[in-house]
Amino acid sequence: MKTLVVDHPLVAHKLTALRDVRTDSPTFRRLADELVTLLAYEATRDVRVTDVTVETPLVTARGVRLTRPAPLVVPILRAGLGMLDGMTRILPTAEVGFLGMIRDESTLKAQTYATRLPEDLSGRQCYVLDPMLATGGTLAAAVRFLFDRGAQDVTAICLLAAPEGIAHMDETFRGTGKPIRVVTAALDERLNEQGYIVPGLGDAGDRLYG
Ligand code: PRP
Repeated sequence: MKTLVVDHPLVAHKLTALRDVRTDSPTFRRLADELVTLLAYEATRDVRVTDVTVETPLVTARGVRLTRPAPLVVPILRAGLGMLDGMTRILPTAEVGFLGMIRDESTLKAQTYATRLPEDLSGRQCYVLDPMLATGGTLAAAVRFLFDRGAQDVTAICLLAAPEGIAHMDETFRGTGKPIRVVTAALDERLNEQGYIVPGLGDAGDRLYG
């Protein structure tokens, strides 16, 4: 698995404002949306394209278009929904699937309560959206879902990641040969006893949707 921490002053600026406890919900939603678009720019660096020609007003030129079928974008409900618009803004032809998952706050285990994905993902590139990679249980389960349906590769876009979550993903998929990338705005210090990322930004779902 590859991890990319996007090192960019605009990303750091927006993330700092997201962390701020005084940032209200409307501002948090706007910042999350903007931040996803910046992360998506890096996350889609390997998106498949097909060579085409294009008629300019002057000549025929070479160019590319996104290879069909288009990538699948999968926000993990609920908090991942706050990242969907920012992602589809730069990938408007993407198909969207949904996974509803919730982490039991006492056991920290992820439970799946909704699945709405194409049955066959053979050869598809998939982008999972989830603001927080904490223990990694949620993301590991989501990525497994996609590979079980035939996904070719999976890139997760997370606003924040904890080292424990990255390690869990590494261990879960080590030796499987599955192409997985995690793109995040920051790798924070640790998880606390309640499984929250520290310094973090609190509970992303609550801050987005109350
Ligand atoms: C949060 C977050 C991730 C998950 C991360 O969701 O959005 O999905 O927890 O935790 P993990 O890495 O330890 O599995 P939550 O379960 O709070 O649900 P919500 O999005 O509905 O708020």
